[in-house]
Amino acid sequence: MPDEKTRTPERSEGDVNLSPRRRQWSSEHIGPETSKLLEQDARYFLHQSLSTPCLNAVRASKGIYLEDMQGRQIMDFHGNSVHQVGHGNARVIEAIKEQLDEAPFCPRRYTNQVAVDLARRLTELAPGGLNKVLFTPGGTSAIGMALKLARYATGRHKTISMWDSFHGASLDAISIGGEALFRKDVGPLLPGTEHIPAPTRGKCFFNCTDEEHTGCTDYLEYVLEVQGDVAALIAEPMRWTTVEMPPPGYWSRVREICDRLGVLLIFDEIPSALGRTGKMFVCEHFDVVPDMLVIGKGLGGGIFPMAALIAREELDIAGDRALGHYTHEKSSVGCAAALATLDCILEEGLIENSIALGQHALQRLSEMQSRLPLISDVRGMGLHLGIELRRDGEPAVDEADAVLYHSLSHNLSYKIGAGNVLTLCPPMTINRRELDRALDIVELGIATVG
Ligand SMILES: Cc1ncc(COP(=O)(O)O)c(C=O)c1O
Repeated sequence: MPDEKTRTPERSEGDVNLSPRRRQWSSEHIGPETSKLLEQDARYFLHQSLSTPCLNAVRASKGIYLEDMQGRQIMDFHGNSVHQVGHGNARVIEAIKEQLDEAPFCPRRYTNQVAVDLARRLTELAPGGLNKVLFTPGGTSAIGMALKLARYATGRHKTISMWDSFHGASLDAISIGGEALFRKDVGPLLPGTEHIPAPTRGKCFFNCTDEEHTGCTDYLEYVLEVQGDVAALIAEPMRWTTVEMPPPGYWSRVREICDRLGVLLIFDEIPSALGRTGKMFVCEHFDVVPDMLVIGKGLGGGIFPMAALIAREELDIAGDRALGHYTHEKSSVGCAAALATLDCILEEGLIENSIALGQHALQRLSEMQSRLPLISDVRGMGLHLGIELRRDGEPAVDEADAVLYHSLSHNLSYKIGAGNVLTLCPPMTINRRELDRALDIVELGIATVG
């Protein structure tokens, strides 16, 4: 049996949790009560990369803060991207409580008012003719439904997706995903899941420098034409884990190629939708409407597991097949949480806050970049920001790890993408003072590691 202590996990999806620096941090910051709980966690949970062993334990969460068992108030700029409306949002909790008292479950064969209200609401908010929905309790299963619908709608099974992408951890999702962490050593993946290089600006495989990334799009066109039988292209419109914005003309050219070759376009906006980038859906930034849009994560207000597939009306063609058939497919409680979440985002000006504070943060990050040579790039859209660290042109992986533990020591938590990109993803309810405090901590960390 392989020994987890002797293997180094891939860094694509986050910071590794077996580093010597983590052990050092733990010995300095974790008290006996927490240690005991962490030991029990390690005793009872199956160990897996990124999740185990845990670093710390949460005893409360509210707004932008997690409170650990030693009473530290930790700013949560990670939150698994579920906390658009902040942790423990009062409106979401109230809606859940009311629904629990009224009708906590809805079995198949029945519908319920909140589920229909949420379906209508999402179709009204979604762009173009995205007029039909299905709900599931998780993003990965919503991706699975999209893949099945693409097969039924086109009579084809092949897909094109991006190397290095992530669309969930199930076997079908890792087949279209492109990260070694999930694909290596696991055995045969789904057939027909072809991959292309991502159009990463300044770093793409074809060294593109133009707005459309013609090298990338020409290659996509070539692959689709040569195969001739691809059902769908599936991608995140903006790569979330490393905060990579697509080239400005990329998606409209891709849309045009897909239309011409009869290939469906599926956008995975599971972590990125619901206003965080400054628009309700990321695809609205590029004026491109996909055939299917998959959302999840924060849809349940950071409390209830909820995801949705939103599809073009013409794709409602599988009435005699099972696309989802999930036990909680019309959860009245989950739908109540989602409706309250949407109300919060729209009525409390959270999108406007994301735009304004996102601009402010990006400006501060640019200033930091001019002072701190370790920062090679800063980027962001709304309140999702990335700080790339490089030393002598090479990814500064060890330095990023050191900055993270420095930040954690100052009660700021965030994720590291690809080993060297600090990603800042705070709740959209954050105010400027709190954001500035977090940016001060990051700046101090980078300057200290420098
Ligand atoms: C882009 C993307 N797609 C899909 C998923 C899977 O969602 P879930 O964990 O809810 O199944 C994630 C989760 O991190 C994600 O970031």
